[in-house]
Amino acid sequence: TTLGASAAARDGRVFGTAVAAGKLSDSAYTTILDREFNAVTPENEMKIDATEPQQNVFTYTNADRIVAHAVAAGQKVRGHTLAWHSQQPGWMQSMSGSALRSAMINHITQVMTHFKGKITWWDVVNEAYADSGGGRRSSNLQSTGNDWIEVAFKTARAADPNAKLCYNDYNTDNWSAAKTQGVYSMVKDFKARGVPIDCVGFQTHLTGGSSYPSNYRTTLSSFAALGVDVHITELDITNAPTGAYTSVVNDCLAVARCTDITVWGIRDSDSWRSGESPLLFTSSGAKKAAYTAVLTAL
Ligand code: XIL
Repeated sequence: TTLGASAAARDGRVFGTAVAAGKLSDSAYTTILDREFNAVTPENEMKIDATEPQQNVFTYTNADRIVAHAVAAGQKVRGHTLAWHSQQPGWMQSMSGSALRSAMINHITQVMTHFKGKITWWDVVNEAYADSGGGRRSSNLQSTGNDWIEVAFKTARAADPNAKLCYNDYNTDNWSAAKTQGVYSMVKDFKARGVPIDCVGFQTHLTGGSSYPSNYRTTLSSFAALGVDVHITELDITNAPTGAYTSVVNDCLAVARCTDITVWGIRDSDSWRSGESPLLFTSSGAKKAAYTAVLTAL
């Protein structure tokens, strides 16, 4: 069996991977991609600097390539990401105030309209919380007003009512962390006030077995209890310890609303942290012990 088939047999879950358009011509890469995974996230190709390099000039060539490959392979697509402080094009970096607010709204509307019907989940807002303290990260978007996140979600719902709208962040794995609690309060508030949000993504970039939080399952189930799906969106773990990978899978499977596990790349050589060998396949495409551990747990 495979990661995707095993996940699908678990109440229709998906097991996805980040994908880079530039690697779709590498047959060693696509062989593993199409054999093992039933969902994909473009690693960089749907980010703001990629899709709107100049204001109101939209480029979709590489993103479209990934979507076309996914459709042909029967894989679902996670759109990543529409509003983020990082990987903004130069024109946006130097914007502020109501002009930036309007530009954000236009960006979300244009990009979601282009991909309408092809994207199952969108990471509407990425990494809006500060690393410590439980409050918002300071950024040009945050400076447009504290309501920027809910405006982004409302805009997204109007642009593609069928897409599932997610908030995505990192270092939100430990239930005790102030950052986790900050995001939790936001989602709770959105649910209470009817701000559209369907899912929360936990990037889960872990730095080794010892960084795996024993309360991870509590984190996932607590968010799920708010009435959102929970997704593990960018999983990678330094040196790919089998125990930590197994625990992540077990914790997700224990939560009915944990419907997606996505690793952030296929082979170690594909990883943004390639020096740390954090993925499930070696650089030459062989299955690692962590692969077997994940498949066994699924
Ligand atoms: C990373 C990509 O993997 C790199 O190729 C790129 O240079 C920087 O961004 N959180 C996210 C992802 O939400 O978009 C980031 O991806 C990793 C951290």
